[in-house]
Amino acid sequence: MTPQEERRFPLLYKASTESTNDDARAWAQQGAEHGTVVWAEVQTKGRGRRGAAWMSQSHESLAFSVILRPKFSRALWPRISLICGLAVCKVLEKHGLIAEVKWPNDVMVQQKKVCGILIEASESAVIAGIGINVNVSDFPNELKSIATSMLIECGKNFDRQEILSEIQQSLIRHLLRVDNDFTSIIQELRERCYLTGKSVRMLVANQEMQGTVQGIGKNGELMIDHAGRRECYLQADEIRIVS
Ligand code: BTN
Repeated sequence: MTPQEERRFPLLYKASTESTNDDARAWAQQGAEHGTVVWAEVQTKGRGRRGAAWMSQSHESLAFSVILRPKFSRALWPRISLICGLAVCKVLEKHGLIAEVKWPNDVMVQQKKVCGILIEASESAVIAGIGINVNVSDFPNELKSIATSMLIECGKNFDRQEILSEIQQSLIRHLLRVDNDFTSIIQELRERCYLTGKSVRMLVANQEMQGTVQGIGKNGELMIDHAGRRECYLQADEIRIVS
């Protein structure tokens, strides 16, 4: 998508809601167009992956969901998860941060999480729920060592609506590359792969194991060497990185 092709997509704002992912799903069912964003200042039941609660600070962080109606086949939908992480990284980089994707799509800065992404598919649309710590100046003690914000890393506040709109555009631009340019998408992800070379403890089918991450394979799979063998995981629910 060239800058000339970029256009404004609908943005629905709510002061408070349970979860923007639920609102986006409902809007998608009613026919909301590709690229529509639901943004809420407060989420009372924000959720993360694996049923975890997602807390966001009103007026400081951003919590929003983008309705995506990909033109490519449903078989390629799993790629969207990776695309979202990359699309967010690119926006952070534009603002001077060094961002990495922790497979499949957490976004990390200086070894700490700055953004979480929850992808949920409905019949005809994919909902990309994005929670990003923009102007958060402090975190509760239990999160201090694992979470960061754009403000903490850059020492300045950002215009949240501008960041939202940049991520929305970035997402839509990167989505256009899923079926015809995935090799270079993978290359860009490899350059930003937080886990590569790291020794990790992981849970696979409820069994805890130790392995060393070798990187991201050509189909977006996470490659881990474990007990002398290379294992590949294509879906985030096949594996949980514990530490
Ligand atoms: C994770 O890291 O586990 C994913 C967090 C995703 C949070 C976002 S905030 C906007 C959207 N609405 C939700 O309820 N969750 C996502």
